[in-house]
Amino acid sequence: MSASIPVTYHGAFCYEICLEQDFKRLIEKLASIGCKRDQKVCIVADSNLEKLHLSALSDVVSAYFDVVISFCFPAGEASKTIDTVQKLYAKLIENQFDRHDLLLAFGGGVTGDLTGFAAATYLRGIDFVQIPTSLLSQVDSSIGGKTGVDFWQYKNMVGAFYQPRLVYMNLSLLHTLPANQFACGMGEIIKHACIKSADYFNWLKTHADDIRNRNPQILEEMIVKSCEIKRDVVERDPKEQGERALLNFGHTIGHAVEKLSAFQLLHGQCVGIGMAAACFLSCQFGRLTKEDCDAVLSLLRQFDLPVFADGLSDEDILLASRSDKKRIAGKIQFIVLDAIGHARIEPDLKDEQILTGIAFVSSCHTTKQENQIGEEP
Ligand code: GLY
Repeated sequence: MSASIPVTYHGAFCYEICLEQDFKRLIEKLASIGCKRDQKVCIVADSNLEKLHLSALSDVVSAYFDVVISFCFPAGEASKTIDTVQKLYAKLIENQFDRHDLLLAFGGGVTGDLTGFAAATYLRGIDFVQIPTSLLSQVDSSIGGKTGVDFWQYKNMVGAFYQPRLVYMNLSLLHTLPANQFACGMGEIIKHACIKSADYFNWLKTHADDIRNRNPQILEEMIVKSCEIKRDVVERDPKEQGERALLNFGHTIGHAVEKLSAFQLLHGQCVGIGMAAACFLSCQFGRLTKEDCDAVLSLLRQFDLPVFADGLSDEDILLASRSDKKRIAGKIQFIVLDAIGHARIEPDLKDEQILTGIAFVSSCHTTKQENQIGEEP
């Protein structure tokens, strides 16, 4: 089992997304993009990956490249800062990395985002390759060239669009992914289906058991489908001038919850909560039917994603949503669904309306068992 998805940038081939079951073809793929033995390589990984899989990757890479070093940092969103990037710059300078050398981002979204940002800025840009290991990074964050770090209380506030030279996945590593991290990836996957494909949404429902059991063939099929949706969007709108904003479905309230929970909840879990709120708003004030709204909530629950935020005040969530960077002229760019598979930007939602969606997912107003649609939240 293996697959390859080409990604173009402004119409020209830019990089390949390779889905493999091991690292056997990594060197061949690196050579195919022009990597030479005498390039220095720095593998960037967090403390979890360091324990579990760094030596396996390092052995493969060291068999080809003359100089391979690694840079490790404490796992978690709290490390996605300019401070961690500075430490990485220091490591590269100490080891005399120049513009021809290479960074490998080995891990989840935090690793990919901060390594990509370091690659975009070190010596005004050196090559980097994404080796995503979490489901979320495989289907979403490793594709499309968004790189960056959090700054003060703002998520992804400082960054750059900078494309990787290659995205290489060893899907067998998914078997060691903790259940909550797997659920986070499912959050982004359900997002892809909600915004772009009712067929894919139904496929996810039909294959839910196999997905939950991590059946390798079904996982590969699912990852290919999600990568293709993401690829198609970023090819049409690489710098988020329009359509790419649809990928932020669930993220406005999701980012607010993530910040307020002091990163106790993981990104994909917060996106689940944000999507539940956005579906409720789409149903109350837009065209989404109650049946479709229920179907999304039920799929989120089926994949162990929370659909309510515990112990946060509605006003605080609204305030944090307003400070999300995804605003134009001070207005929140809210993504709503007209139907499953059809999303659009809604720039004119009023605070009272957004508060209704927030109340739907906040513990102040909902029972922990069920969010009741059609009733006063
Ligand atoms: N994860 C959203 C995007 O890449 O645009």
